[in-house]
Amino acid sequence: MGELMEVIRGRRSIRRFEQEEVPQQALDAILEAVQWAPSWANTQCWEIIVVRDQAAKEKLQATLPKTNPASKAIVQAPIVLVVCGKLKSSGYYKGQVTTKHGDWFMFDLGIATQNICLAAYDQGLGTVIVGLFDHDKAKEILGLPDGYEVVAMVPVGYPAKDSPAPRRREISEFVHYEEF
Ligand SMILES: Cc1cc2nc3c(=O)[nH]c(=O)nc-3n(C[C@H](O)[C@H](O)[C@H](O)COP(=O)(O)O)c2cc1C
Repeated sequence: MGELMEVIRGRRSIRRFEQEEVPQQALDAILEAVQWAPSWANTQCWEIIVVRDQAAKEKLQATLPKTNPASKAIVQAPIVLVVCGKLKSSGYYKGQVTTKHGDWFMFDLGIATQNICLAAYDQGLGTVIVGLFDHDKAKEILGLPDGYEVVAMVPVGYPAKDSPAPRRREISEFVHYEEF
C-alpha cells in the first residue's frame, strides 16, 4: 500500500526521453494496466494504438500546436500510445444515455490513461499525457473507423530529464465535509 502512494506521488510528466527502447515486457505491463482499469458497467470502451514508426510519430507531432510543451516528446519517445475510445457505449443503456453527463468515454479513458502513466512509472519509464492537438487530423492519420475518437497521446520512454513537481492545492482547499 505504501508503495502505491510513492508511485502516485512520484509520477511526473516527462517531456524529454532517452533513445533506449522500451522492453516488450514493460509495454505488456502497461497494457495490462489498461486492461484492468474500471469502466462504466465494465464497457471497456478503450482502444490503444501503439505507434513506434518514426514517420508516423512525425505526422502525429504535426497535429500539435508548436507551442505545446510536449511537441518534442512525440518524436523523441520510442513509443507513443494513442488512447482512443468507442462512442455511445460508456454511460449508455440500450442505446440511450443514462445520466445528464451523456457519454462517459472521456471519464473511462482518463482512468485508463492514469493507469498507463502509473504502470509506466512503476517500470522506470516516463510519460506525459497529451491532450492539446488536432484530434480530427490524428484520427485520419491513424485510420479510426466511425464511432471512435482519438482522445490522448502518451509518449512512453526512459526519462532524459526529471521535472520538478508542480504545486498542488492543499487538501483543505478542495475537500468539503458534508456539504460544498
Ligand atoms: C487531460 C490532460 C491533458 C494534458 N495535455 C497536455 C499537453 O497537451 N501537453 C503537455 O505538455 N502536458 C499536458 N498534460 C500534462 C499536465 O500539464 C501535467 O499533468 C500537470 O502540469 C501536472 O504535472 P505532473 O503530471 O508532472 O504532476 C496534460 C494532462 C492531462 C491530465
